Parts: sequence; structure tokens; C-alpha cells
Amino acid sequence: MSEKASISINGKSHELPIITGTENEQAIDISKLRDVSGAITLDPGFKNTGATKSAITFLDGEQGILHYRGYPIEQLAEQSTFLEVAYLLIYGDLPSADTLKDFRSKISRHTLIHEDMKKFFDGFPSKSHPMGQLSCLVGALSAFYPESLDPNPSEEDENLTIMKLLAKMPTIVSWIYKKSLGHPVMYPRNELNYVHNFMNMTFGQITEETTIDPAVVRAMHKLLILHADHEQNCSTSTVRIVGSSNANLYASISAGISALWGPLHGGANQAVIEMLENIRNDGGNSAKWLAKAKDKNDPFRLMGFGHRVYKNFDPRAKIIKKACDDVLEKLGIDDPVLDIAKELEEAALKDQYFVDRKLYPNVDFYSGIIYRALGFPTDMFTVLFALGRLPGWIAQWKEMKANKEPIGRPRQIYTGSTKRDYVPLDKR
Ligand code: ACO
Repeated sequence: MSEKASISINGKSHELPIITGTENEQAIDISKLRDVSGAITLDPGFKNTGATKSAITFLDGEQGILHYRGYPIEQLAEQSTFLEVAYLLIYGDLPSADTLKDFRSKISRHTLIHEDMKKFFDGFPSKSHPMGQLSCLVGALSAFYPESLDPNPSEEDENLTIMKLLAKMPTIVSWIYKKSLGHPVMYPRNELNYVHNFMNMTFGQITEETTIDPAVVRAMHKLLILHADHEQNCSTSTVRIVGSSNANLYASISAGISALWGPLHGGANQAVIEMLENIRNDGGNSAKWLAKAKDKNDPFRLMGFGHRVYKNFDPRAKIIKKACDDVLEKLGIDDPVLDIAKELEEAALKDQYFVDRKLYPNVDFYSGIIYRALGFPTDMFTVLFALGRLPGWIAQWKEMKANKEPIGRPRQIYTGSTKRDYVPLDKR
């Protein structure tokens, strides 16, 4: 017999179904609540609200568990490649060797971007933030590939749009970087794997053959895998809600990129390095900055700390911290902010304020230190997050379409004036 929850409103009781997921998470299904009772639920920030049923990513914030399609993140980060994880997220299963080869080959056919898009790159001021450019450029793909506008595409057309977006994103990201330097752009090289090609377009030069250190390529695979999906976070919910109006994939992802930009979300990776630099320039006194983070009259927060869902270690942060040590050692880099980061983490984990609130380092606390070691400037960090998150956003958009989810349209509790009569201007 299925379980029920009961709720009593103004003395009248209503029974509501309980939904149980495959990992035994439970939800009260309130989809009929307003019809039967007239009441809605109020949950600012959706702290207790499930917006969808999803078969893509499972995370248990209390236990610090993260699975993509059932596979633990630790195994994927160690053994898989970014493109394989992209396939897994979007199509539901690990590909066979032939399927992966075919997927890679199809993507490599779409890595060029329309030559007219170059004019966009020329139009941006050289110092404009890469996230603003990325959101604009991804949205603009819809103008170049109008077949994506069909709200009910065939499976073949939907897949084509997905392939194009996956293929063109690394080209767009690397060209944003090249333009910021005033360097000529590098064209994609289809014989290289997805991540290697991206690194080559970013750090290669047209004047000579560039060798990208395999350790750097491997570290980048790992970082992108760790960022590839994270269920219904701010940017993913944005992608799903924009897509629920039948907006095309490019427009939906462009909106997700904007949502990711904020420093409370993906923009935290840039904010962390800026914070660590500030602490270093200020003499490296971590106790002073921890005190600021605890002071409710001070807007400062310890960036890269805390998470809406993880109330235990973010499993991605553990992997990244280790990768950070490995990459810096391999590249022979001694970054003083790494010591400050470790000192801050150690102090925070012992501090009652952080212990009581279950605040731990999140995925972004150490990622910026690796990005920097790999040669990326600070304002590119969030763009790299977007590159990693792309398959997750696509998978979530595709699932939302396949589930035929209704348009996302929350309700509200109105707190403004009650009805009043218009007063002509000369009477006010
Ligand atoms: N530094 C200091 N105090 C913090 C921090 C922090 N980084 N994070 C949370 N707190 C405190 C809050 O002030 C609050 O304290 P209170 O209960 O005394 O009022 C308590 O911890 C709970 O925090 P909320 O903001 O209510 O938690 P919420 O789930 O809404 O926010 C968030 C989560 C936005 C991630 C928050 O922890 C934060 O701002 N962290 C810093 C930014 C950051 O690193 N963002 C990246 C997150 S990962 C990602 O999106 C990819």
C-alpha cells in the first residue's frame, strides 16, 4: 500500500501521496494541494521543494555522496573521460567502445563555428567578462542554427543540436580567451580528443606546434568531470525552467550560464582566488578573515565554503584538493595561496561557527588554484565551470522535454496593498 501524508488546514484534513525515489528519498506530492485545499506551499529558495523527478544525478548531502547515473563520482573522476561522462549523463548509460567512437567522431564534425560569429568576438570590449560573452555567444548560436527553434524536434534534430552545442562550446571558450589576449584564434583539430583539442585551442599558437602536457590534459578531464552535473542547482533549475517554456536549447543554456555566473554559485571559483589573494596581500592572517566571515554585520563570507545541499564534505572538494596537490607538484609550482587555503580550511573546520552550521569546503575552494596552475586567468574560471557543466545542463533539458514537464510557474503569497482607487495626479 502506498504511503500517504496528511495535512490539516483550517480543521479540514487532506491526504497527500508520498513519492519514494530509488535511493529512498521521500517527498510529499503536493501537486493537487491547491485544487483540494486552496492553499499553496511557501518555500523561498526552494530549500524543501523538489521541482522534478530525475534519473540523472543522485546526491546525499548528509553522507557526502554524489553519483552520475548511479556511478560514484570518485570512480568517474579517476577512470573516465569527460566526453564519456557527457554521453553517460545525456543518454543514460556508459557507451560501448564503438558508440563512444561514433559520438566522438560526430562531435568532431561540428567543432567549427560560423565564420560570421567572429564578428561578435570583435565587438566585445577586450576586458569584458568572459561569462557575459559566453552567455551571449551561446544564445547567438540559435540565430545561426534556426532548426533548433522547433519546439518539437525529431529525435535526430534534437541530437544534432546537442552535438553542435557540445562541439562548439570549447571553440567558443578558447576564442574568448584568445581575443582577451589579442592573439589570433586557433582552429579546432579533430584528431585530438575533446579536452586536448580545447587545451590546444586555448594555449596553442598558430606560429608553432604546441605540446600540451598530458598531465595537464588529465587534470582538466578530472575538473570537467567533477563539474559535469549536480542535479537541481540554481543554473540547472534555470535551464529546465527556461526550457519548459519551449525555448530552444541554446537559449536555455545561455540562461543557465547567466545563473552560474553569480558568486554564490559558479562565480565562487573566481571569488575564492580573489579572496585568497586579498588575505595574502593583507598579511595572511586567516584568523582575522574567519572572524569577518562570522561577523553578521560584515557582508564578507568565506567563499568556497558552505553548500545548500552538502552538510558534510563535498565529495568533489576532497578529489580536487588531492588533484591540486598532484598538479602543483607535477608542474613544479609553489602557489602561496594554496598554503593560505589549507590554513583557512583547517581553522574553519575546527571553528564552532562553521561546525555548528556544517560549513565545509565546496567544489570551488581548490579548483581555482588548479586552473591558475594550468595557466588560466582568474576571470576564465567560471567559464571553465560552464564548459564542465554543459553535459549536465543538456541532460537535464533533454529529460525535462522527454518528461513533458509543464511550464515552470511558481505561485506567490501577495503582501502588497489591497484594492485601492486611482487618485488623479492633481489630487495626490
Ligand atoms: N561564510 C560564512 N558564513 C556562512 C557561509 C560562508 N561561506 N555560508 C553559509 N554561512 C552561514 C550563513 O550566514 C547562515 O548563518 P546563520 O544561520 O547564522 O544565519 C548559515 O551559514 C546558513 O547559510 P545560508 O546562506 O542560509 O545557506 P544557503 O544554503 O542558503 O547558502 C551558499 C548556501 C550560498 C553556498 C552559502 O554557503 C555561501 O554563500 N557560500 C559562499 C559562496 C560559495 O562558495 N558558493 C559556491 C557554492 S557551490 C556551487 O554553487 C558550485
